[in-house]
This record gives sequence, structure tokens and C-alpha cells, in this order.
Amino acid sequence: MAEPILEVTGLVKHYPLTRGILFKKQIGAVKAVDGVDFTLGKGETLGIVGESGCGKSTVAKMLCSLERPTAGSIRFKGEDITKLSGRALKAVRRDIQMVFQDPYTSLNPRMTVGDIIGEPYDIHPEVAPKGDRRRRVQELLDVVGLNPEYVNRYPHQFSGGQRQRIGIARGLALRPAIIVADEPVSALDVSVQAQVINLLDRLQSEFDLSYVFIAHDLSIVRHISDRVGVMYLGRIVEIGREPEIYDHPTHPYTQALLSAVPVPDPEAREHRERIILTGDVPSPTNIPSGCRFRTRCWKAQERCVVEVPALAVPDVFRGMSGPAAHDSACHFAEEKQVVRAEGETQGE
Ligand SMILES: Nc1ncnc2c1ncn2[C@@H]1O[C@H](COP(=O)(O)OP(=O)(O)O)[C@@H](O)[C@H]1O
Ligand code: SF4
Ligand SMILES: [Mg+2]
Repeated sequence: MAEPILEVTGLVKHYPLTRGILFKKQIGAVKAVDGVDFTLGKGETLGIVGESGCGKSTVAKMLCSLERPTAGSIRFKGEDITKLSGRALKAVRRDIQMVFQDPYTSLNPRMTVGDIIGEPYDIHPEVAPKGDRRRRVQELLDVVGLNPEYVNRYPHQFSGGQRQRIGIARGLALRPAIIVADEPVSALDVSVQAQVINLLDRLQSEFDLSYVFIAHDLSIVRHISDRVGVMYLGRIVEIGREPEIYDHPTHPYTQALLSAVPVPDPEAREHRERIILTGDVPSPTNIPSGCRFRTRCWKAQERCVVEVPALAVPDVFRGMSGPAAHDSACHFAEEKQVVRAEGETQGE
């Protein structure tokens, strides 16, 4: 992996659950993020995938310093940014920008596109002097594939895909080093999703960006990600390079998610094994002991109840160099090819 730009260690966000109005008493906690570790290499794209409610947006907000972690550290270029305040905090917020999920609600309907994209310059006037802003904004519109003459239009005059381009232009305004994109295409039509992903892909090399790309579906992040982490109930349960996760998953949860990914090729679809998970995702206020996936895992055994599996190369693969030897938090990790790779036929 390239030199790390972001190193996340033991990241935790617990929201207190309180009862009472005058005398608030803490009765528990929503363990939204419960011990997340990963590294992002410079120029790399890390996909983070998991079902709704597993803590993806909370991780995103902490990376962008919009929420303070309960515990853990986030090192940006070697410096822990979780305890910064004042000027230093302001500076790092410039370097790590977020692109939000919903282009319909994240843009202020009463502001022109020019004001929306140029708003970050109000907070960081050092990036673009007042007289230069209009030109900068028009440049950004051009970069994201919109007509620079649209600068005085309002959000409702654009389609969903165009609005997400506006959101991306705004994210680029301060020339960040990292963009955290929180489900940037989930609200868009399937036909538009690929265009926005291709745009992000192009901008990455043009602006020398590193990406954390969040999605709830493994198929969306596949082609843009160098590595992918799979989240379940506040933790990453498996992480590896793109082919390791898609073609050699070893964690039962990843295997189940992959078995639900749409497969366009009817022949491959026929040979795919569907794994249907039973039961609901447990509440983040009441996380199961041992392996947090055990209440839905078809392989669970006694050991899974008592022992928390570490996110590491499982014992069975230790010392091996193949694609199955990547981090997977499972006591009984086994390689299982769920989706046949493109071009592969049966019997190969
Ligand atoms: N401010 C908050 N207060 C209490 N609980 C929260 C708060 N924000 C998020 N949560 C809870 O934390 C969990 C993770 O939420 P989130 O990070 O938004 O998940 P995701 O983005 O994966 O859907 C959910 O159970 C959610 O209800
Ligand atoms: S540790 Fe046990 S419960 Fe958890 S994923 Fe592995 S087999 Fe399933
Ligand atoms: Mg979310």
C-alpha cells in the first residue's frame, strides 16, 4: 500500500441513552461505532460497505471532524486530529471534506449554485480572495461537467445527478487531500450512478485525492475501490484488496452480502448460491457477546459466544500468501467463492 495518509485506530462513538427530563440519567448507550481500525493510503480508495444502521455515517462524520469520537485516534499525515481545536481543527477540516448522500436535501434551495459552491471560501478566505471567487466557482462547475454559466441558477433547476455534481464541486472547493463520500450515489437512478462514480474516479487523479467511499451495497464500490472494508454493527468484520473481498471472502457476513449482489450475467446468476440471513440486525444498544454476528451466523458455535474474534489474518491462513490471507474477524473463517469472477466458466 502507498504511504498512509489516514490511520484509524480503535475508533469508538457511543451516544448516551438517557431517561428523565430534568435529571438526565444515563441508562445505556447506542454503540454506533464500536472499535474501527483501518488505514487509507495516499491516492487510494477505500470502500466501506454495510447495511443501514451499522455506523458508516458516524465513521464518516468523525473522519471529517464533524463528530468527536468517544475513544480512539484518527491520524492524518501522522498527527492525531481527534483532539484538535481552534485553528488546527479548522485547518484539518479543510483537508478532509465530505460529500453527502442526498443531493436533494444537502443543498440549500434558497442559495444559488455559485453561493453554494463558494460558501466554503467564507470560512477559508485564504483559499480564494473575494474578487477571485466567481472565477474559481465557474472553474469548479466546469471540472465536474456542468456549464459554468449555470452559476446563478438554483438547485431545483438541476437533475439529481447534476445536484450531486454540485455537491462534489463544493467538496473540491478547498482543494482537500481526502474526500469522504457518504453513499454519494445511493439516492440516484441506476443509470446516473455510474456517471457520478466515473466523475469521482477522474477527479481522483486530477486532484491527487484519497477517497473513503461509503455504500450499503458491495456492487457499487467494486470498481472504484482499491480495498474494501465490510462493516457490521459498528465494526469492520473483513477488510482486504478488492479481489480478496469479492473473489475470496472468508467472513460469513461478507459471503452473505455478496450472495445478494445483483449479477447481470444469467448463467453466473444460476450458479450462484444465495445465502439468506435469518433474524434482524441486533440493536446497537445491546450488542451480542463474543462475535457480534453470531445471532445471524449459520456457522456459529460455542466459541463464538464467549470469544471476540480479532480483525486479523485468521489462523488457518496465517503464513500463506494467497488472496484468502487477509484480515477477517471470524474464528471459523473459510474461503468461499460466492460470485464467479467475470469470464470464468464452470469447471475451470
Ligand atoms: N446522534 C445520534 N444519537 C443517537 N444515536 C445515533 C445518532 N446518530 C446515529 N445514531 C445511531 O447509530 C447507529 C449508526 O448510525 P449511522 O452511522 O447513521 O449508520 P449508517 O450510516 O451505517 O446507516 C444507528 O443505530 C443510529 O440510529
Ligand atoms: S466467529 Fe463464529 S459467529 Fe462470528 S462469523 Fe465466525 S463463525 Fe460466525
Ligand atoms: Mg448513513
